[in-house]
Amino acid sequence: MEPFAHLVKKSVPNYLAALPIPDSIGGWFRLGVRDWLALLPPTALLVGFGYMSYRAFCPHGRPVPCGRVNLKVRKDVAKVVDTVDIEDISEKAVFCRCWRSENWPYCDGTHGRHNNEHGDNVGPLVITNKKA
Ligand code: FES
Repeated sequence: MEPFAHLVKKSVPNYLAALPIPDSIGGWFRLGVRDWLALLPPTALLVGFGYMSYRAFCPHGRPVPCGRVNLKVRKDVAKVVDTVDIEDISEKAVFCRCWRSENWPYCDGTHGRHNNEHGDNVGPLVITNKKA
């Protein structure tokens, strides 16, 4: 049998079956020192795997929920919508697309710091009015 197949089909299941995992909650309180020591490696492996997964999805360890783009702009509304009349744009308007600007919806250059800190490449939307 190939070593990997043996590992997956025999070694790991035998190892897991031999772990002193109690059948009841009260059983955890009756575990001895040897039992706890036997549970240490798989627990460390699980914690390490969980930590690596967390780091993979939250690479900068920020305390914000993963996947959020908007961290501070009008958090009191369900959806941030901005309307700008094209007639109000004289020659050029620069709109933020990184959601970090202090002058939302306009870009204030904060995207540069964001890009440096996070290895990102976001930038503004520039709208020019050639008729002006
Ligand atoms: S500050 Fe957000 S794109 Fe420039």
